[in-house]
Amino acid sequence: MTEQDFIPKPYSKTIEKGSMTWESPSNIALVKYWGKKESQIPANPSVSFTLNDCKTTTTLSFSKKKSEDAFSFDVYLDGEKKDGFKPKIETFFKRIEQYVPFVKGYHFKIETSNTFPHSSGIASSASGMSALALCLTSIERGLTGDVDDKYFTQKASFLARLGSGSACRSLEGDLVVWGQHHEIKESSDLFGVKYPFEVHEKFKNYQDTILLVDKGEKQVSSTVGHNLMHNHPFAQERFKQAHINLSALIKVFKEGDLDEFINLVESEALTLHAMMMTSMPYFILMKPNTLEIINKIWVFRQETGSKICFTLDAGANVHVLYPQRECEQVGEFIKNELVAHCQNGQYICDQIGFGAKEIV
Ligand code: PMV
Repeated sequence: MTEQDFIPKPYSKTIEKGSMTWESPSNIALVKYWGKKESQIPANPSVSFTLNDCKTTTTLSFSKKKSEDAFSFDVYLDGEKKDGFKPKIETFFKRIEQYVPFVKGYHFKIETSNTFPHSSGIASSASGMSALALCLTSIERGLTGDVDDKYFTQKASFLARLGSGSACRSLEGDLVVWGQHHEIKESSDLFGVKYPFEVHEKFKNYQDTILLVDKGEKQVSSTVGHNLMHNHPFAQERFKQAHINLSALIKVFKEGDLDEFINLVESEALTLHAMMMTSMPYFILMKPNTLEIINKIWVFRQETGSKICFTLDAGANVHVLYPQRECEQVGEFIKNELVAHCQNGQYICDQIGFGAKEIV
């Protein structure tokens, strides 16, 4: 597939007005996407677990307008008008206009809500942009008539990517790959695809408890972060390493080798942060509590033989990953040892999920 394949033929139908609702989850990368080229093309392939409970629900109401000269939309979060979200959505509309040319012909009301608190420091861009992209693709399906499901999902993921790169990994589950990788022939830089190979049952219902260490605004936006990889002294080596780590994970997923899974996932998280510490300008996005948690996880693993591990986003919060069969033991450990390092004791229990759903 190329970008051209996502430019639609002239629409055969007209629709005056309507509304679509989609619910779409967040995802957590195991091999991280960090660095991009023009048009949101990733500098390296990534793979993520789709989450189940951290999600966004978006209703997109649309009505035909007379002129097609500008984008016209209002955004609401939990029923409250949010003009502050408009610039990001305006940029998104500009990027996708050639692929969904109907967008200038309608006025949109975007009503969105998240299951996780907006100020939790959990990025809502993956779930939010994928939910919006799905609503738009649904409208287009109405304008073109029949569209097969595979193309529908690819197009929605393609559009979501243009909103926020990692959003293209949120549509399906439970594992999604984005970015070309030589061992995964269906992988693409343009959209996410369901991980196509065998996954050992040890990874079924894998748990992700998100420890909210710092709920403040992101210190470094991901746009700034990705740009730090241009002219980064270690960029090329890092991009190579992501390919190698994804190859290694294919074997891990097949064989259920949790020790190797831990090595790869924690190394990826620390590498992401190492990239930020060694860029110019440089940043430290971990907080003292992030390190406290990591150290306690390492001690707990050492002492109990648990298969618990951590991963990080581009921030201070910690995602604690563990197999379902360890729920009770790790749950106790989190409550007794780790919650003290969370801001206001807040954390979110989530697990692997299976992607977005249309709400009809
Ligand atoms: O989708 P963006 O542009 O917000 O980038 C997300 C980057 C990381 O979350 C740090 C890693 C990833 O692959 O999700």
